[in-house]
Amino acid sequence: MAGAPMRDDPLAYLGAELDNLRAQGLYRRLRVLDDAQAARTRIDGRSVVNLSSNNYLGLTTHPRLVQRAREALDKYGVGTGSVRTIAGTMQLHVELERRLAEFKKTEAVVVFQSGFAANAGTVAAILTKDDFVISDELNHASIIDGARLSRATIKVFPHRDAAAARAIVQSLPPQARKLLITDGVFSMDGDLGALPQLCDLAEEQGLIMMVDDAHASGVFGQNGRGTIDHFGLHGRVDIQVGTLSKAIGALGGYVAGSRDLIEFLQHRGRPFLFSTSHPPSVTATCLAALDVLADEPRLVERLWENTRFFKNGLNGLGFNTGASESPITPVITGEAATAMKLSDELFARGVFAHGIGFPTVPRDKARVRTIVTAAHTSEDLQFALDAFAKVGRMLGLI
Ligand SMILES: Cc1ncc(COP(=O)(O)O)c(C=O)c1O
Repeated sequence: MAGAPMRDDPLAYLGAELDNLRAQGLYRRLRVLDDAQAARTRIDGRSVVNLSSNNYLGLTTHPRLVQRAREALDKYGVGTGSVRTIAGTMQLHVELERRLAEFKKTEAVVVFQSGFAANAGTVAAILTKDDFVISDELNHASIIDGARLSRATIKVFPHRDAAAARAIVQSLPPQARKLLITDGVFSMDGDLGALPQLCDLAEEQGLIMMVDDAHASGVFGQNGRGTIDHFGLHGRVDIQVGTLSKAIGALGGYVAGSRDLIEFLQHRGRPFLFSTSHPPSVTATCLAALDVLADEPRLVERLWENTRFFKNGLNGLGFNTGASESPITPVITGEAATAMKLSDELFARGVFAHGIGFPTVPRDKARVRTIVTAAHTSEDLQFALDAFAKVGRMLGLI
């Protein structure tokens, strides 16, 4: 450009950061799907058994969901053209919120653009700098970001340790407002939050109780109602977050709770106020998913049959699978480089299981994370187990 002065690239430090990641074996190229998100698909030109999606029930390609999306596209077009609070609320959005409230057995629901937005938007909206968040150390990044945005004081308790959470609460000013928060299912370990004990603590100490059930909705409880249903805690959790992006197969997040909570979030939840609402096809897809959850309980049963089969297979081979109680089963390798090698060698043999390292998991707990779905066949899972056996022996993991 004529006349533009030469200057050093002010973003050069980012390149250095990337080199750092490469040196630590943490640099990842994005894998690209050549086909639909499914149990068997093509990724980077290779046909694979896919153990890396959150598509728990195989709903991303379910004919009833695809049909409802098509109908909504034909009838309403591709977008809403507005945020919810101006002109972006369609009957479909209202109906989805009504159905989700019924599903979660709460007074009301508000839908956000993603589970991330639901968590971050809610925590940031309901707390101020004078308040406290008491949070499990492995809670999702969106909870941490929401807490930071709220400017409340963040107190972290060791993973699933309700006694430690109690000690923290007792050390805080009694009159201060406090939010106690846990994931229902932890996304990297597949274990469950200490919900019953934390609910007891919340009731005893007058805390706000919040559960992020992103990985539990569609998976745990009656017809996939989540961990609150699984543990019999209806009415004892003030704020439930769910996602429409995982088992539901589409995109979005929601908050379920009292009518006052939901109306407050409609006025103060910043992603709700300042970001365009879901396209009608997405909303219609989610409505169809709720119909499928009600009408086809076999899908959840099949998910759990597959989960048991695959977990037993990995454990039988001698892998370290941590403390998972859900369809998320980590294969813990320790070193990040070993996790990435395991993932790459599995991929070369037609199995896609993503390697995960720091900062997503602690430095010495790198892993390959596997998630089975209802859509995998027994042959798919046996094929994957055979590949794990070969590569595991090759790398000295078993
Ligand atoms: C525990 C947990 N909460 C929230 C989210 C965010 O959900 P979404 O992908 O819908 O933004 C995720 C996953 O991405 C998650 O694992």
